[in-house]
Amino acid sequence: MAAARGQFSSRFGFIMAAAGSAVGLGNVWGFPTNTAENGGGAFVLLYFVLAFVLAYPALMAELVIGRHTRSNMVGALSEIAGSNRARTVGKFTGLYAVLIASLILSFYSIVAGWMIAHLAEPVATALGCDGAARWLVESSASRSLFFTLLFALATIWVISRGVEKGIEKWSSRLMPSLLLLLGALIVYVLLQDGAADGLALYLNPDFSQITNPTIMVEAMGQAFFSLSLGVGTMLIYGSYISKQENLPQLGAIVTVVDTGIAFMAGLLIIPAMFVAQNNGVEIFSNGDLVAGPGLIFQTLPALFDTMGGTGQFIGFAFFALMTIAALTSSISMLEVPVAYTVENHNQPRPKAAWLIGGAIFAISTLIVLGGDAAFGFVVDLTTKYSQPLLGIVLCLFAGWVMHRNKVLEEIKQGMEQAEQTLFWKIWPGYVRYVCPLLIAVTFINSLRA
Ligand code: PHE
Repeated sequence: MAAARGQFSSRFGFIMAAAGSAVGLGNVWGFPTNTAENGGGAFVLLYFVLAFVLAYPALMAELVIGRHTRSNMVGALSEIAGSNRARTVGKFTGLYAVLIASLILSFYSIVAGWMIAHLAEPVATALGCDGAARWLVESSASRSLFFTLLFALATIWVISRGVEKGIEKWSSRLMPSLLLLLGALIVYVLLQDGAADGLALYLNPDFSQITNPTIMVEAMGQAFFSLSLGVGTMLIYGSYISKQENLPQLGAIVTVVDTGIAFMAGLLIIPAMFVAQNNGVEIFSNGDLVAGPGLIFQTLPALFDTMGGTGQFIGFAFFALMTIAALTSSISMLEVPVAYTVENHNQPRPKAAWLIGGAIFAISTLIVLGGDAAFGFVVDLTTKYSQPLLGIVLCLFAGWVMHRNKVLEEIKQGMEQAEQTLFWKIWPGYVRYVCPLLIAVTFINSLRA
């Protein structure tokens, strides 16, 4: 009785959906703040290198396994396993990934909710509702819960509509709007006084920082989170790609778009900080550039305030950008547990979406009530510890468990001359040895950092 499996109707649809998953708060917030914290241009350079040498091969592992098995991560890893033991490992890894994707969504929705609150603030101010405007920008449990719920409802609604009518349709609408908003904001900010100092910091790498192990670890974490790796998001999106498509090329496009938009977000935010300084806003605390939530929710709004009426408009556009980026990512997170429930437990999609989305909102509520400690715990558990480890297992499955001939066969669909390509000369050995080892070394380093 299982309903027919969804599939992206076009190449463009897949690219928008996968790039939409990849491009999120991780790019527009995480990347610029990490850059501000970790020595500017050096971090940017390292991030690019790691995105292509580590994250892209891992992304390919997910896409190949996903399209080959046409299944969610639990089903996929058990299916390619040759032995009972590998099957059990595959199944539990898949279930763990489903849990981690859900937990990422539980904290991500809270942050996304803050973005919506800040988006509403200029509107409340324009309407003269000063009390409401204050509530919208001051942190409180009621504000967090209200907007988390709003964001969760939007996410659930899109996912309940399915692959083509939900994920593909909304990603294809929202991603171009995101690009337009981002482009317009960059042009505006770069024309303001002070922007050049930010640009200089952003674009001049301090090469002495490049071998700094903490920066390496941060850059790898950033690359993994940003490409939505490890938790089966890219695997499930891969499972909806037509067999006619060239996978290595699609993966490369998604990586380029993701890193490109992160780079653009940096072009917006770092110069904006120096424009803020030029307008009298404090952008250093204890000698370091402000980063983290302070940057997004205090420094930048303070900058918008110094710009009068235009500032209100710019602030609105900025938080609209954040909200869109978050939504195209959150739907990809919810798709992971929902696809699993639909496929492995034969549940109708809308029911699965509402029930699981509701359960995840309940976890968000606990996190809001648990405060910073609960929030930090879930973020570290998911992004710092689980994502790299799951990434290692996925590479091992693509490199060792899945039969090499099957891997080649899969890649050849949509890329007939695969054997002659540089990709096929490098990648198979690469996911077998280099990726797992590099991820492991960086991971161990991160535990000591
Ligand atoms: N890539 C998203 C971002 O950059 C986050 C994400 C992580 C999405 C894991 C899906 C799965 O914000």
